[in-house]
Amino acid sequence: MSLSSKHILDLQSMPREDIELILRTAEGQREILDRNVKKVPILRGKSVCTFFVENSTRTKCSFEIAAKMLSADVTGISRTGSSLNKGESFKDTLLTLEAMGVDLFIIRHSASGSPYYASKIVKSHIVNAGDGMHAHHTQGLLDLMSVRERMGTIEGLTVLIVGDIYHSRVARSDIWGFSKMGAKVRICAPETLIPAELGRFPCEIYTDLKQALKGADVVNMLRVQTERMHSGFFSGTREYNCYYGLSEKLLREYAPDAVVMHPAPINRGIEIDSEVADGERSIIVRQVTNGVAVRMAILYLLLGMPE
Ligand code: CP
Repeated sequence: MSLSSKHILDLQSMPREDIELILRTAEGQREILDRNVKKVPILRGKSVCTFFVENSTRTKCSFEIAAKMLSADVTGISRTGSSLNKGESFKDTLLTLEAMGVDLFIIRHSASGSPYYASKIVKSHIVNAGDGMHAHHTQGLLDLMSVRERMGTIEGLTVLIVGDIYHSRVARSDIWGFSKMGAKVRICAPETLIPAELGRFPCEIYTDLKQALKGADVVNMLRVQTERMHSGFFSGTREYNCYYGLSEKLLREYAPDAVVMHPAPINRGIEIDSEVADGERSIIVRQVTNGVAVRMAILYLLLGMPE
C-alpha cells in the first residue's frame, strides 16, 4: 500500500486510510530504535533537507535522526547562516536546493501555508513540519500513535485539549486527527484563547477545566505560546495556572484514570505542574520516541516504496 499523496501537508485533508498506514508503518519501524545498531539501508542514495526557518528541537532532530536511521543523506538549512539572511527568497532557496538533488523537503515556517506554496514550486516531496498557527500534523500523528499504544485504541475515547488553542497548530491537527480516528474531542481554554474558526472544527468547547476534565480519557496540555502573543490574552501566568494549569490534585479529583500528554516544550508551573508532567500517567517522553518512528514511517512511505 502507498500514500494517496506525494506531499504530507495536514491531517484535515489526509484520508483515514493514510493515517492508518502511517501509524501501522511507524508501529512496525519503532523496534529499530531499540536495536544496538540503529540503521537500515532503505533510503540509501536519497537526499532529504530539513528547511527550518522557525525554532525547533524535537521536530527537526527527530526528522534528522529518522532520516539517518533509514540511511538517507540529510542537509539542514535555517535562516541564520544561510542566504535567506541576505534576502534570498523562499522560492529561490527551494529551487537552489532542489537543483542540488534534494528529493524531499521538511519545512517549518512561521507563515501558514508556506509548505503548500513550496509544493507548487518544486517537484520534490514536501512534508509540513509546522506552518504558523495552521498545522503540525506529524505531532498529531505521533500523538495518535502514543495514545493508541497506551490505550489500545483511539475509537470511542474522550480526548481533551487544554490551553492556548488560539496559537496552536498542534491543537488544530489533533482535533482533526483524533476525530477522524473515532475519538470525541473537547477543547478547554479561556475565551480569549479560543479562535472564532473553531466552530468549524469537530470538537466541543469548554471554558471550565473542572467540567472539561470529567470523563476525559486523555488530557493534552498545550504550551502557552508567549512568543506569538502580541497583546494580553490573560492577566498573568499565576492566574492562568490557577484556572487552566494541570495539578496532581485536579487530575486525581476530576480525571483519575486519564493519560496526560504535552507536545513540549513545557512551561513547567504554568500549564502543567512538574509532578504531573513527570508522573506515572504522563506519556510525554514516549511521545518524543514515537515522533522518531512516525517520521521514519513518513520518509519511508514517500521515498522508500518501489516506484
Ligand atoms: N513539539 C514540537 O514541535 O517541538 P519543537 O518545536 O521543539 O519541534
